[in-house]
Amino acid sequence: MCGIIAYVGRQQALPILLNGLKRLEYRGYDSAGIAVMNPDLTILKKKGKVINLEELTQNVTIVSSIGMGHTRWATHGEPSDRNSHPHPSHDKRLAIIHNGIIENYSILKQELLSKGHIFESDTDSEVLIHFIEDIKENLNCSLEHAVRVALTRAVGAYAIVVMSQDDPNTLIAARKSSPLIVGVGKDEYFLASDATPIVEYTNQVIYLKDYEMAVIRDNKLTITDLENNIHEPYIKELDIELAAIEKGNFEHYMLKEIFEQPTTIFDCMRGRLMANKGLVKVGGIREYVDQLANAKRIIIIACGTSLHAGMVAKYLFEEVCRVTVEVEYASEFRYRNPVIRDGDVVIAISQSGETADTLVAIEKAKEMGAIILGICNVVGSSIPRTSHAGAYTHAGAEIGVASTKAFTAQLTVLYLIALQIAKEKGTMENERFRRILNELDSIPKKVQKILDNSYIAQSLASLYLDAKSMIYLGRGYNFPIALEGALKMKEISYIHAEGYPAAEMKHGPIALIDDEMPVMFIATKDATYEKIVSNIQEVKARKGKVIAIVTEGDDAVKNLADHVIEIPEVDEILTPLLSVIPLQLFAYYTGVLRGCNVDQPRNLAKSVTVE
Ligand code: F6R
Repeated sequence: MCGIIAYVGRQQALPILLNGLKRLEYRGYDSAGIAVMNPDLTILKKKGKVINLEELTQNVTIVSSIGMGHTRWATHGEPSDRNSHPHPSHDKRLAIIHNGIIENYSILKQELLSKGHIFESDTDSEVLIHFIEDIKENLNCSLEHAVRVALTRAVGAYAIVVMSQDDPNTLIAARKSSPLIVGVGKDEYFLASDATPIVEYTNQVIYLKDYEMAVIRDNKLTITDLENNIHEPYIKELDIELAAIEKGNFEHYMLKEIFEQPTTIFDCMRGRLMANKGLVKVGGIREYVDQLANAKRIIIIACGTSLHAGMVAKYLFEEVCRVTVEVEYASEFRYRNPVIRDGDVVIAISQSGETADTLVAIEKAKEMGAIILGICNVVGSSIPRTSHAGAYTHAGAEIGVASTKAFTAQLTVLYLIALQIAKEKGTMENERFRRILNELDSIPKKVQKILDNSYIAQSLASLYLDAKSMIYLGRGYNFPIALEGALKMKEISYIHAEGYPAAEMKHGPIALIDDEMPVMFIATKDATYEKIVSNIQEVKARKGKVIAIVTEGDDAVKNLADHVIEIPEVDEILTPLLSVIPLQLFAYYTGVLRGCNVDQPRNLAKSVTVE
C-alpha cells in the first residue's frame, strides 16, 4: 500500500529510484513519481505503472545523487497524474512522499485554504507538506523542526520523506504506523518501505520505530524522536538475497512462489520439528508456552488469506489442544466491544506484518490486557514488534500480490504450535502425535508431487476460463480451503467465486447451480467424506460441473465428478497444506489464460496499511 524509496550518496539517484520503485510496485501500482535535485527540486510523476514514469524520465536529462520515489495505492483521490506523489508545497520549494493516511487532513486543509494555500491534488499528503511549509514560515524554524511540529498535530499513519530546495543535500524521514527502513551503505543512505529495493546495495538496515525521525544530511544520519531526543541507531543485517526477490525462470512471481512451497514449508519447520525424536518446539513462543497451554480461549485475528489460515487453526487447536478458539476479522474486532478475559491469548496472523486492520486490532486487544502472539512473514515488520512474542514463517519475500507460499507457511507454524501445545497439555494420544509429526515432515515431498502434476490444473483452467462464476465447497479442515480457493480465483482472474461449507449449499447457494456453474469440491478422504460425496451428487443432479480435489486412488468421486485432481494421502488435519495447492494453480492458470496481471491484480496492494 504505497511504496517509498529515497537515496542520497555517490551514485546517480534516478536508476536507483526507478529500480526501487519496480521492486516496490507490488505495494501499489496506481501511479508513480520521483523528486530529484536537477539541480533544482524537480518532480516527475505519472498515473499507472512505474514503466510510464520511466518513459517520462527518458525525455529529461537528470543528474542528481539525491532523490525520492513513490508508487501509489490510491486512498484519497482517484489514480491520476495530479494525485501522484511526490507533492510539492505551495511555494514548490519542498516536496513530500507519503505512505499512510492523515485522518485530520480536512481540518488542516481548511486552515491552510483560509491562509491562501492552493491545492493541486485531492490527497491528504499534499495537505501535510503545505502544513509543514506553513509551520516553517510561521515559526521561522528549520525544516526538521517544522516537520516535527507538523507530525505532532497530524493524526493517522505516515511514513514520509521530505526534500527541500533550500537544503539540497538532505532527506528528512519519519514514521508512525507505516513501515520505513534506513539502508546504510558506504557513503550512501537509502530509505524504503521494505528491504526489497535496498538489498542489492546494502544488507545493513535500521528499522525506524514509530515517532522516530531520520535526518540524512551531508552523509550523516541522525535519528531522533519528535521531541528531538537523539536515538542511537540499531543496525541489523538483512538476511534476504537478491535472487529471492527476482522471478528467476518463472513467468510470474505468483507461479515462482507456488513452486517454492516445498522449500518454504521445509524452511518453516527447520530447527522446529524433529520428527525422528518426537520433538516439536517453536522458539519464538518459548516464554508463552504456559499461557498457551492454560489459555481458556484463543482468539485469532487476521485478514484475507491469513484469516483463512486462522480458520484452519480453529479446527486444529480445538481438536488437538482441546481449547476454545474464535477467529475474528481483524477489522471487525477493533470496532465492536470485544470481550477479553483473563487467560485469553490472541494470535495475530499476517504475511506483511503491516496490515492496518490487524495492527489496530492488536492494539485494542493489548489495551484490554491480552497476550499477543504474532505469526508473520516479514522480519522486523510492525506486528512482530507490537506482539509480546510469536514466530516468523520464514517463507521469504512474497512479491506476488496474491498470497500463496505465505499461507502454507502460516499453516505450518500453526501446526507446529498446536502440536507443541497438545504435547504440553497431554491432549493428544502419543502414537497419533508421533504419526502426525512424521506426516508433517513428509509434507514438502507431497507438495512437490502435486506441483509435478500442475499441468492438470492448467488444462482445467483452459476449460473453465470463460465461467461467469464458480462455487467452492469443502467441509471441516477443507472449508477454509474452499474460501481460500475462491478468494484466489476472484482476485487473480476476476471471476466471481464463493466458498461455502459444502453442507450449507442446500440452504441457499444451490439455487445458483445450473449446467454452466463449475463447482469445485474439496472431497478428500476424511471424517465427512461420505457426506461430501452426497453433496457432489446433489450438484450433479442439477447438472452442475464438478471438479473435485480427491485423495489419490479415490475412484468413487472420480466416477461422479467431471474432473478430479488427486493429492497424496495424509492425515486429515494436515490436508489443507496439500488441498490448497491445486486451487492456487487453478486460479493462477485461469488468470493467466484470461490475460490478467496475476502478480498485480487490479485495485489490490500487497501490504494494506490503511483501515
Ligand atoms: C489474498 C491476500 C490478502 C491478504 C490480506 C492480509 O491473496 O494476500 O487477502 O492475506 O490482505 O494481509 P497480511 O497477511 O499481510 O496481513
